[in-house]
Amino acid sequence: MSNNSYIGVFDSGIGGLTVVKAIADNMPNENIIYFGDTAHVPYGTRSKRQITEYVLADVKFLNTFDLKAIVIACNTADSIARGTVEEMYDLPIFGVVDPASKRAAEITKNGKIGVIATNATINSGAYNAAIAKYKPDAEVIGVACPLFVPLVENGRFNKGDIVIETVVREYLDPLVAKGIDTLVLGCTHYPLLSDIIEGLYPSLQIISSSGAAADTLRQSLEANDLVGNSDDSVRKYFVSDDAEGFKRQAQVFMGDALGGDVTQVNLD
Ligand code: DGL
Repeated sequence: MSNNSYIGVFDSGIGGLTVVKAIADNMPNENIIYFGDTAHVPYGTRSKRQITEYVLADVKFLNTFDLKAIVIACNTADSIARGTVEEMYDLPIFGVVDPASKRAAEITKNGKIGVIATNATINSGAYNAAIAKYKPDAEVIGVACPLFVPLVENGRFNKGDIVIETVVREYLDPLVAKGIDTLVLGCTHYPLLSDIIEGLYPSLQIISSSGAAADTLRQSLEANDLVGNSDDSVRKYFVSDDAEGFKRQAQVFMGDALGGDVTQVNLD
């Protein structure tokens, strides 16, 4: 393992690109391998057993590259299978739940934190446990938002899109009515909805688990003298379903910054 070994990042689909973007914006000299398990998205409505099986296949694939770290860029995978991955791999494993929880605990003023995430993440209680570690008296109100991931995967994340705006209101109005001052976007697909959420609820402090994860990764790489210094950093993207569809979606969201080829692989 060296400074210019890859950071392996994975998610069930395009959501983890919000983490890649946050890493690339903050650490432009890192080499990144991304895997999106687009054949199996969404993870968040599946059983623990099934999610763990998919996650182990994702990590096994990434581990065929020379890695210096793995980033579980999926709150669902992090909530359900992180312990299993840590037991099996002797690599630094980073997630999204803990960094976002720490940030929420630090910035809430009234101690009422809303968490929106997939069914699996909310049912796991991972956010309640992680936030309690940093702020034991916080009130955490979690809401599962199963319609968000399919809508985002289908490109329905632009301001003015009546379908997504209606769904956002349906999930968030009751949560905001409970008096939260801080909202954790506890799914890496949700930063794509940030503009809409900020527009509808301007007084909320919004935390992206993706941005928080990238900051934690940077701090750890710095502390361990493992920051990348590639002048020409490499990014490679792999998906388990249609590469062209992924590329189109990814480009809408990341613009020219995709910075690498997308290849379809079959992990079965
Ligand atoms: N982006 C993922 C997350 O952070 C997973 C969404 C899904 O596949 O359901 O939870």
